[in-house]
Amino acid sequence: MKTFDVDLGARSYPIFIGGQLLSQRQLLAPYITGQQVVVVSNETVAPLYLERIQSTLSEYDVNTVILPDGEQYKTLAYLNNIFDALLEARCTRDVTLIALGGGVVGDMTGFAAASYQRGVNFIQIPTTLLAQVDSSVGGKTGVNHPLGKNMIGAFHQPQSVLIDTSVLATLDDRQLSAGIAEVIKYGLICDEPFFGWLEKNMARLLARDEEALIYAIERSCRNKAEIVAQDEKESGVRALLNLGHTFGHAIEAGMGYGTWLHGEAVAAGICIAAELSRRQGWIDNEVVGRIIALTKAANLPTQPPAELSLARFNELMSVDKKVKGGKLRLILLKGIGEAFISADFDPALMNASIKACRESQ
Ligand code: NAD
Ligand code: GLY
Repeated sequence: MKTFDVDLGARSYPIFIGGQLLSQRQLLAPYITGQQVVVVSNETVAPLYLERIQSTLSEYDVNTVILPDGEQYKTLAYLNNIFDALLEARCTRDVTLIALGGGVVGDMTGFAAASYQRGVNFIQIPTTLLAQVDSSVGGKTGVNHPLGKNMIGAFHQPQSVLIDTSVLATLDDRQLSAGIAEVIKYGLICDEPFFGWLEKNMARLLARDEEALIYAIERSCRNKAEIVAQDEKESGVRALLNLGHTFGHAIEAGMGYGTWLHGEAVAAGICIAAELSRRQGWIDNEVVGRIIALTKAANLPTQPPAELSLARFNELMSVDKKVKGGKLRLILLKGIGEAFISADFDPALMNASIKACRESQ
């Protein structure tokens, strides 16, 4: 098992990564303070793994909340299901919430923990690759609004993150690829050697080779932990983790939440960001070619959907959380492993890049 900390002073917490961790009581018990535990999951993950967690936690008073499955339910209305359960079980401030699921369950459980009685503890048990490499680490929690993705939320760090790679066996191939989009992101932002490793090892990841998966998860989480430790609340460097996300969020909201997977939308968004960086003269054709080739090798889309007009793209991007003083800021590239935040791009080139990516083969 691999273990390391997200270093945030008093709010530091460990990440555990390995196979068959769900049944290891000693990895959960130290992070549960009271007797009450509420496990939040969804109707797909609960039948697969809830019983295992319940038996690991048999010494606690465990209640469960089963949410409907899907990004379209990541809303304030469905968040209320969690609050209803917490209040019905008369949960006090020492309750511990456990998120057992993908990023949707993790973001909703985290936000419920951030706001129930003004803040209670929670533990992340991510069950998708995407959640294992990204959403379970760093304390961003929240829900969507019809006018914008993740627009309502809070920063609230978990007590621990338990990454059991065995649960990836039941994940379908499309979801596995969606997770790989966020893995590629780390290589592009700050870790060129990792990008090179991915170019060589993509087939092993797609074949779910355990050693390769654990390596990619650990390296991704270490990269994220380092960035979060420098800038917990995204006043600077953490924004780099949003490479491809401004375009991606517009795709997700514009197509209707759940139509494009988050990771798929991020993959197409990264390709647009690369094309814009090329048109600005910051990277060359070869770099763009490597990014597109790796994205394709991961069975991810490189083009935004034809249905989303430029006007709609721009409208959706105008509510991005990185907009400052009315000006959109984007994460762009000066090379592989060299992302930077910029308001200093030509909007005409941005629109041309979206168009070019949409029309490319
Ligand atoms: P998801 O939570 O919708 O899970 C994808 C699908 O896989 C769902 O149908 C789920 O039920 C199913 N599933 C989960 N685990 C499974 C397993 N082990 N076996 C079989 N099926 C399983 O989506 P996701 O890709 O995990 O997360 C996307 C969400 O995460 C988005 O809402 C995105 O905004 C958010 N996100 C948050 C952060 C953050 O920092 N908080 C970062 C990245 C993404
Ligand atoms: N997924 C972006 C972040 O955690 O900051």
